[in-house]
Amino acid sequence: MRLDNKTVFIGGAGSSATGWSIGKASCVTLSRLGARVVAVDINPEAAEDAAEEVRKAGGIALPLQADVTDMEAMADAVARAKSEFGGIDVYIANAGIGKIGGVAETEPSDLDRVHQVNIQSLLIGSKLIIPIMLEKGGGSIVTVSSIAGLRYIGYPHLAYSVTKAAVIQFTRMLAHEYAGRGIRANTVIPGLIDTPRIQANVAKAFSVDGDADVMRSKRNEQVPMKRMGTAWEVANAIAFLASDDASYITGTELTVDGGITGKFS
Ligand SMILES: NC(=O)c1ccc[n+]([C@@H]2O[C@H](COP(=O)([O-])OP(=O)(O)OC[C@H]3O[C@@H](n4cnc5c(N)ncnc54)[C@H](O)[C@@H]3O)[C@@H](O)[C@H]2O)c1
Repeated sequence: MRLDNKTVFIGGAGSSATGWSIGKASCVTLSRLGARVVAVDINPEAAEDAAEEVRKAGGIALPLQADVTDMEAMADAVARAKSEFGGIDVYIANAGIGKIGGVAETEPSDLDRVHQVNIQSLLIGSKLIIPIMLEKGGGSIVTVSSIAGLRYIGYPHLAYSVTKAAVIQFTRMLAHEYAGRGIRANTVIPGLIDTPRIQANVAKAFSVDGDADVMRSKRNEQVPMKRMGTAWEVANAIAFLASDDASYITGTELTVDGGITGKFS
């Protein structure tokens, strides 16, 4: 699995707290495989942190601040990537947010924002990056959904689940539109992954006082493999789909979930 001389553009490349998020682990994993990494995040410190980890591992990274829902900011980021590295070969759409709650707790404005970040960003990124990929004869797009986009996961997470379901179908549509023009598009579907974000955002769905240790042991217990996944295990799946080793794979999903999606209860 190699990505030599490829430029990878990662939206949501940082981590929302200290530790290894999926985006940050992907930056380092893809860099170790030979890629140059354009690390884009709404939080400039998170983008810089991801880029610094790439440099520490001996790679090349360009950190950029942009909100993936902002067409102008994304156009600037894509233009910088092109001028620094001559093009974009791989686009990883990893930025994602959620709002815990069901119908009563979710306002239309909540759904709007989650939709913008989780879905509208895919349209913006695709509109900007696909023409650059086509100039070079093709590329690979990897989007990041969630098992919450497939199933009810035990607590109401309405806006997140609906938009993560849409990520899968958006990606299939992309794959079919561009299959004859050298661009592949696939989705990674992570299960319960132990990233810094879940400690802050998901813990309150598992215990009244939002105790992170209670949440962690309950999540571990739910999984047939008896543990949450790591950001690195998701990054490996992203790297595979991004690489030419997946050259005949498009319009499909790779679930990385320790077996939980196939479980009855
Ligand atoms: N952690 C899990 O258990 C899990 C499970 C399934 C799916 N996922 C998905 O994986 C992805 C990464 O999750 P994570 O847990 O590593 O999250 P994280 O919050 O640590 O990382 C996401 C990064 O995206 C950035 N970001 C958020 N909104 C942005 C925007 N509008 N523009 C640019 N950057 C933005 C954040 O600043 C952060 O650095 C998300 O799409 C998430 O929905 C996570």
